[in-house]
Amino acid sequence: MVNATDTEQGLAARVRSMTRADHEAAETTSFVADLMSGRLDLTAYARLATQHYFIYETLEQAASAMRTDPVAGGFVDFGLDRLPALGADLHHLRGPRWRSEITPLPATRDYLTRLRAVAFTDPPAFVAHHYTRYLGDLSGGQMVKRALRREYGVDAEGTSFYEFPGVAAGAVKRRYRELLDEAPWSAAEQDRFIDEVKRAFAHNRAVFEDLATATAA
Ligand code: HEM
Repeated sequence: MVNATDTEQGLAARVRSMTRADHEAAETTSFVADLMSGRLDLTAYARLATQHYFIYETLEQAASAMRTDPVAGGFVDFGLDRLPALGADLHHLRGPRWRSEITPLPATRDYLTRLRAVAFTDPPAFVAHHYTRYLGDLSGGQMVKRALRREYGVDAEGTSFYEFPGVAAGAVKRRYRELLDEAPWSAAEQDRFIDEVKRAFAHNRAVFEDLATATAA
């Protein structure tokens, strides 16, 4: 259990520093390192996009449920939804029958179970999962996009997941952090938020580990 009230920092700075090691652990998995350096292939990237599809399907259903929450609703209003772009990418990468061909890996199923357990009813937990995915997509996701295009020759059509048309990433990230700092959550809710971000990073890491196994098979 973390204690989010230890310092005078705002919540945005606290979550960032308290999850630095979790971020590094996810970023340095072999699947991510291999994907970034061109050691994999388009099939591996299509598998990653497939797992993203399941994750965002549930996360964006939770976002609909949270839209009317006075705090969580503010994060939903950024309009960062990824599901339509993922559908288009999968159509491009896997063909027109993609939807009936895909299945979640075991780690993805665990991630979805956690999302269903907390993200539809607990605003700090929802924001934790939202933050971990979308702020990552707006940050490191942009490096992943460049690597995919450089290493695998996939163009904008297969990587629209990483494009946020009409979204000024820097301004959104700044406003996002302000909203975190302004959230009128109790100390217990702030602790729950940070703990859940750590869990979200662990789920993402587990998905990368399953993807590495699937890729080696
Ligand atoms: C190739 C792998 C990755 C790279 C190169 C990378 C790189 C980065 C960089 C440079 C930032 C800082 C951006 C800024 O200050 O504006 C960042 C932030 C972030 N990344 Fe990653 N990242 C990677 C993977 C991931 C993964 C797998 C996740 C989680 C699913 C993630 C979640 C985040 C989050 C939530 C932030 C925002 C931190 C904050 O400012 O509060 N990243 N990433």
